[in-house]
Amino acid sequence: MARPKIALIGAGQIGGTLAHLAAIKELGDVVMFDIAEEGDIARGKALDIAESGPVAGIDVALKGTNDYADIAGADVCIVTAGVARKPGMSRDDLLGINLKVMKSVGEGIAAHAPDSFVICITNPLDAMVWALREFSGLPTEKVCGMAGVLDSARFRHFLAEEFDVSMRDVTAFVLGGHGDTMVPLTRYSTVAGIPLPDLVEMGWTTQDKLDAIVQRTRDGGAEIVGLLKTGSAFYAPATSAIEMAEAYLKDQKRLLPCAAYVDGGYGLNGFYVGVPTIIGAGGVERVVEIKMNKEEQAMFDKSVDAVKGLVEACKGIDGSLS
Ligand code: APR
Repeated sequence: MARPKIALIGAGQIGGTLAHLAAIKELGDVVMFDIAEEGDIARGKALDIAESGPVAGIDVALKGTNDYADIAGADVCIVTAGVARKPGMSRDDLLGINLKVMKSVGEGIAAHAPDSFVICITNPLDAMVWALREFSGLPTEKVCGMAGVLDSARFRHFLAEEFDVSMRDVTAFVLGGHGDTMVPLTRYSTVAGIPLPDLVEMGWTTQDKLDAIVQRTRDGGAEIVGLLKTGSAFYAPATSAIEMAEAYLKDQKRLLPCAAYVDGGYGLNGFYVGVPTIIGAGGVERVVEIKMNKEEQAMFDKSVDAVKGLVEACKGIDGSLS
């Protein structure tokens, strides 16, 4: 049986890490596409990773390209094309530039890999995945965005440090838009099944410390930008997207939070935002609607409103989207 084909649209920091992870996990053959003019980073990184193959024991093919025809027949497309933020910028500041990029990427995928499962990482995430779906015309269940897995991973990491337990035993849930209004749900986050509010009662931490961790999760991307100065996070975002790609390719039916098209649930009609989903061979096979209390619902609604504002801004910039 032929190996799956994974197309990476954008071969920058996240794209390069995606290629390396996909190769090490032998998820499939990798094609890296980029339009960078200052260097042929797609070919350079593909060749560099391929040359690690004999030592790492990797039996997949890697190719770099600037021709969309090379992504033909891809099973998965992971999109990181665009610009990343610098210190002082919010994700929303990237909207104008990255919207144009989504148009060319959407058209490229529609023309050459219309049957693929598309995972968007480009920010501002929720608005960009919506725009990418519009420009590509692909079925909504085949286009989603990576944010919830990353935000939840950050939350899990901070919680594991606070409790001094293995990160593997910490589950966490972050919903809503991938921005300052994201919604870390403490009631649904646990250490081996014990919900965080119970752990506060058990004296494992205090409410104040938990609130600080929630805020650090919301600011997780900015914290990395502030340290790196020259760009934004790439190891954790790439690892998170690979988990989603693997769930699709191996029909794992994982329950993962991602930016998905919600039509009917959560009081939404045809809108992309971070919700729990089941990812399997059908793409986003199901949106899982969870019960939220009043406070959680208010936070979620605020986050949805923030994403709505960005989607409206996209429509204002590109008339074909209205
Ligand atoms: N088509 C293909 N590639 C493009 C296009 C385009 N139209 N426009 C830009 N690119 C490429 C750039 O040449 C660059 O190599 O996208 C790549 C982006 O890489 P980086 O600048 O290193 O950014 P990265 O850290 O990978 O983040 C990419 O993901 O998390 C988000 O906010 C982040 O929007 C950013 C994206």
